[in-house]
Amino acid sequence: MTHGTSQENITVQASPNLALIKYWGKSDVEKNLPATPSIGITLKNLTTTTTVARSEKDSVVVNDIPVDIERFTPFFDSLREYFDSKDCFSCYSRNNFPTSAGLASSSSGFAALAFGAGKLLDPGVSLDIISGLARIGSASAARAVFGGFVSFPSHAEHADKIHEEHFWPELRIVVVEISKTAKTISSRGAMERARLTSPFYREWCLDSEKIFPKALSALANKDLESLGPFIRSSYLKMFATMFSSEPPILYWKPESLVAIRCCEEMRLKSIGAWETMDAGAQVKIFCLEKDVSKITQVIKEALPHVGILISEPGPGPKEILQKTV
Ligand code: DP6
Repeated sequence: MTHGTSQENITVQASPNLALIKYWGKSDVEKNLPATPSIGITLKNLTTTTTVARSEKDSVVVNDIPVDIERFTPFFDSLREYFDSKDCFSCYSRNNFPTSAGLASSSSGFAALAFGAGKLLDPGVSLDIISGLARIGSASAARAVFGGFVSFPSHAEHADKIHEEHFWPELRIVVVEISKTAKTISSRGAMERARLTSPFYREWCLDSEKIFPKALSALANKDLESLGPFIRSSYLKMFATMFSSEPPILYWKPESLVAIRCCEEMRLKSIGAWETMDAGAQVKIFCLEKDVSKITQVIKEALPHVGILISEPGPGPKEILQKTV
């Protein structure tokens, strides 16, 4: 199969995909297949802008810093294999939010890259194929290839869109930026350590399968009071595998715990604030639009120095008319 366009470069904007139900651990390390099913939302307002151009050799620059190409080699090799191409690519990428700090920058990064390079090689390529290629780079990126609400079953090769971006117009995500510093251990390294050393890892995988259909159904009903406990259970059990790894992994900062406690207290006062965390110190709170100002006020009072971003379900990657970033 030989595809290809004469187009030499493309600029793509993609947003990170935040998991309500977490992917954590691989069932096939080489193919980067997830061991647990996940559900995520592609976040509006947080963007990665990536220009992908045909080039002599593969190179990637993120926020003006050249990155180690080794991390990208399996992705580029799979891309060339799928499209039966010999093309190499140079990629310039910029995030409008902290990179590698637990805000899913690898999901938007690989989604933008897979979308851009895929479209250069075949403008008619399907999102399922792009999702499968993005997965080779980062499994959470398989979800970020779609806008709105996305599911990614365990062991699957690509993610699936489950609801459109405007499916639940009242849903908001309050992102509490506890730290802008890049994490010291990558999510990839941390989940592999958990898989190999945590005594709770097997239970984590089994439990994730149990809550996945329940969370999907709560989401289909737009029922935050039912969905919230699954969101909470998923991230806390994921962290249980980290705390119990050898050596243990601890992404949390004292301020993360303050934000978690604020959510707990707000829920006691019937404010639906359901927090989650990823591989980093940031806390993201799922809530309804009517509660955003109250939640923001409570967090600001408790943590006056943190940054707060308000997001909502957003679109998937799209080509934009910009040749350089
Ligand atoms: C905690 O997708 O970054 O954000 O596939 O190894 O690149 P790799 O991992 P990555 O892990 C994301 C983990 C998470 C949870 C999630 O997004 O589901």
